[in-house]
Amino acid sequence: MQPSPFNDAPAPPTHALALTVNGAAVAVTVDARTLLVQLLRDELRLTGTHVGCDTSQCGACTVHVDGEAVKACAVLVVQVEGRDVRTIEGVATAETLHPMQEAFREHHGLQCGFCTPGMILVAMDMVRRHGPVLDEATVRADLEGNICRCTGYHNIVKAIITGARAMGGPAGGQE
Ligand code: FES
Ligand code: FES
Repeated sequence: MQPSPFNDAPAPPTHALALTVNGAAVAVTVDARTLLVQLLRDELRLTGTHVGCDTSQCGACTVHVDGEAVKACAVLVVQVEGRDVRTIEGVATAETLHPMQEAFREHHGLQCGFCTPGMILVAMDMVRRHGPVLDEATVRADLEGNICRCTGYHNIVKAIITGARAMGGPAGGQE
């Protein structure tokens, strides 16, 4: 067999960096090519962040970086150095679902649940960007990057509108 021309390729550079994940300080050393979704799932075992396409189209890998929804399959770990990452595991408290999670439960905004973590995190970001009173057209437009293969979207839209209002709440809002 011919020797591979790649055998002598130098190892990719690694980076030691720190970030916060679901409120906990995390220090890692990663290959410069490591994707955020790989760190979350493979190293930190936060497997609620799903991989549906790996090509930045389905939204199943959506997480928050400093409160903004991003697709973790399209972000390198080195890009989130020093940033605050939140996954679906960091949304509820030990006793209580987040209002957006509760709205998805109440309105049956899921079937298989594969897309649901990404849907909930992108919905929370809609409230950050638009406020707690969302109309159907806004929700449907903002879901263009999140694909559900099961539900037909009607109940997801109802859940997001309800969950957004609940996040607004009498006390002025919950992150
Ligand atoms: S896995 Fe990231 S957008 Fe589909
Ligand atoms: S509930 Fe199955 S993919 Fe959305």
